[in-house]
Amino acid sequence: MQQRAGKLKLNLLSLRRHYTNPHEHYNALRAQDGLYFDETSQSWLVTSHKLATAILDDKRFLSGLSSLASGAAPAQMAAVSKQMVFMDGDAHHDAQNVMLRRLAHQVKQMPDDIRRFAREALLSAQAAREMDAVSEFASPVSLFTIAHVLGIPVDDRELLRKLEVWSDTFGDVTSGYFRGDMNDIKYLESYFHKLIQDKRKNITNDLLSDFIAAKDIFPEEEDIVANCMMVFAAGRITTKKLLGNGIDWLMQHWGVFQAEVRKEPRFVKTLGEELLRITTPTRYLIREAAEDIELAEGMSAKQVVRRGQKVMVFLEAANYDPHVFAQPMEFDAHRRPNKHIAFGYGPHQCPGATLARIEIQVALEELFAVSDLRAKPGSSPVWNSNPNLGGYSANPVTFSTLS
Ligand code: HEM
Repeated sequence: MQQRAGKLKLNLLSLRRHYTNPHEHYNALRAQDGLYFDETSQSWLVTSHKLATAILDDKRFLSGLSSLASGAAPAQMAAVSKQMVFMDGDAHHDAQNVMLRRLAHQVKQMPDDIRRFAREALLSAQAAREMDAVSEFASPVSLFTIAHVLGIPVDDRELLRKLEVWSDTFGDVTSGYFRGDMNDIKYLESYFHKLIQDKRKNITNDLLSDFIAAKDIFPEEEDIVANCMMVFAAGRITTKKLLGNGIDWLMQHWGVFQAEVRKEPRFVKTLGEELLRITTPTRYLIREAAEDIELAEGMSAKQVVRRGQKVMVFLEAANYDPHVFAQPMEFDAHRRPNKHIAFGYGPHQCPGATLARIEIQVALEELFAVSDLRAKPGSSPVWNSNPNLGGYSANPVTFSTLS
C-alpha cells in the first residue's frame, strides 16, 4: 500500500521529483521506522542513520546486483558490472586494496598539485571578478586531480574536457540514470584501452599502472578499463558536486569563515566535514539481499527483507537524521562530532576519502583568497537532473579581489 504523509506521496517517484529538496520526504520516510517498502520500485527505502550503517556493514546485503549479472541490463552495463563498486567478498577486498595502497602513497604529494589547479582556476577568473563556480572552479579542480591520480596527462585540456563529458554519461548510467549519448561510454572505453596500451610500454607512477601490474586481480583488460572509468567518474563527480554546491553554504557567511580560517587554519577541516554532511554528493547506494534478512534493531516492529529484494540506502537522509545530528538542517561549521556517512560505510566505504578530504581542504584554502564571494545578482544555480549524483551544473558567483 502506498502511503501519504500529509500532501506528500511516499514513493520513489515523488522523492525523485523533489530531488533538489527532498527533506520533507526524508522526514516522512524516517517516521516509518527508517525503512519503507516502495511499491512503485519494489524496493526498500532506508532513511535512518542507524539502519543505513547496519545495512552497509552487513555482508548479506550485496553490492553485486543480479540485474547486472543476468544480462537484463543494457549493453553499456557490461563495463559497469566489472567495477569494484559492484563486487563482493575477497575479490572486492583485493581490488580495493590496490587502490588504497596507491592512494596512501600518492596523497602525500597531491596537495601542491591540487593547489596549483585551484589557483589557476581562480587566476583565470580574476579579470572578470566573476565565474561559474561549477564549470570554472569545481570542475577543473576535480577533473585535473583525478586525472593526475590515474595517470591521464593533464596538459591536453581539450581532450580532458571531452573525457569529462563522456565520464558524466558513464556516471549517469552507473547510478541508474539513463540519459546522454550512450556512445560516450564507448569513446571513454576506447580512450582507456589506448592509454593502457601506452602505459604497458612505459609503466609510470600512478593508479592505472598499478591496475595493470595487479594481473591476478584485474586479469582482463576490460577489468582495468571498467575500474579506470569508475575511479575517474567517482573521484570527479563527487568532489565537483561538493565544491559547486558547497560554495552556497560558505557564501552565507563568507567573511566570517574567511577570517576564522586565517586565524585557525585547521578550521578548514571542520568546514569540509560539514560540507560533506550537508551536500552528501552520493545521495543513495543500492544493495541486494542475498537471503531473507530480518531487521528489528531500533524499530517498532520487525521487517523481513526478502532474498533478491533491493534496498536503497539514502546517505543524505541518514546525514540529516535528527537522532544523530542536532539541528540537521543548519550548516554548523563547528559541528563535532560529525558522524556523517557521505563516504558510505562498511566494506565499500570510499577508498578515495583521504584524497577527497585533502582536495576539499586545499581547494577551500585557495578559494578563501577571494574576498566578498557572493551569488551573482540576478542569477541562480542550475541543477543537473541526475537524482542521485547530480548537483549544480552552473552556479554563477562574483568576488571583489583575489589576494
Ligand atoms: C567528496 C568526494 C567523494 C564522495 C562523497 C565519495 C563517496 C563515495 C561513496 C558513498 C562510496 C561508497 C559506494 C558503495 O558503498 O557502494 C564511494 C566509493 C568509491 N569511491 Fe568515493 N567519494 C568521493 C571521492 C572519491 C575519490 C576522490 C575517489 C578516487 C580517488 C573515489 C573513488 C571511489 C571508489 C573507487 C569507490 C568504490 C569503492 C568500493 O566499492 O569498494 N571517491 N565513494
